[in-house]
Amino acid sequence: MKNLLSMKDLTIEEITTILDRAEILKQYGIRELPVNYMVSNLFFEPSTRTKMSFEVAERKLGLETIPFEAGSSSALKGESLYDTLRTLEEIGMDVVVIRHPEERYYEDLIGKLNLAIINGGDGSGQHPTQSLLDLFTIKEAFGGFKGLNVLIAGDIAHSRVAKSNADALTMLGANVTFLCPSEWAGEFPSVCEWEGVIEESDVVMLLRVQHERHDGESRFTKEEYHQRFGLTVEREKMMKPGSIIMHPAPVNRDVEIAGSLVEGRRSRIYKQVENGVYIRAAILEVLLKGRELTWRKSLRVPM
Ligand code: CP
Repeated sequence: MKNLLSMKDLTIEEITTILDRAEILKQYGIRELPVNYMVSNLFFEPSTRTKMSFEVAERKLGLETIPFEAGSSSALKGESLYDTLRTLEEIGMDVVVIRHPEERYYEDLIGKLNLAIINGGDGSGQHPTQSLLDLFTIKEAFGGFKGLNVLIAGDIAHSRVAKSNADALTMLGANVTFLCPSEWAGEFPSVCEWEGVIEESDVVMLLRVQHERHDGESRFTKEEYHQRFGLTVEREKMMKPGSIIMHPAPVNRDVEIAGSLVEGRRSRIYKQVENGVYIRAAILEVLLKGRELTWRKSLRVPM
């Protein structure tokens, strides 16, 4: 694996390798790598969890994290993403984590760069590292994916998490159902009533309403949205025994989920955050290992 761009690109074996490695890292701790690789986190959209958990994973792996501030970089002078990355590659970067508002920003970069690219979210496209940590969290709760019923509720059309998870969970044998207002379903078939699906769901995954990606006003007030499409306290009582609640966060409390459920007994929301560090460390290890093997081969250094 040279880059991590989309869940669509991963095989079941590659997903399993990352999940298994994250499990070992969680059990035994993240150790420093023998080589001092350089990494930079390029965030052209806001982030708390993805950016900071990558930073923590990088520190624990002993990587040199070179700061990049999009707001004070030469991207503001019009430098293209390719030229920015070509420059960072020449400076010595081995890996970059990129979050960018443009969907599939990486398409123009494939095959042109030697550094490894990890997609930290592309517009409404994909969010593979979030998907992998979600898979890890689901596997921790249920031991696997086959036959699980996963209900994803919220702003589906604008959600890169919904798309990444639908791709991955379907490939792994889970049944995915979407619940949302009809105009937010995008390309996916969806339902708009909780009754009949919530009782059967093993995982209820809520998504934030992404106002920043909408044109114009929503037809719902926050309260109306909560009552119609949110996970209310009353609906949580309809969930089956052993089922869990997830959310990639940030959370709008009392909009897509009742505030009191965020840290309730079914919630894995902060577990997802914790697991993000191990998954991101595992991804960095896998990509850097592949890079080292290529480098040793090119220099004919014994492996
Ligand atoms: N879930 C997620 O991607 O959060 P951030 O936007 O804070 O990184």
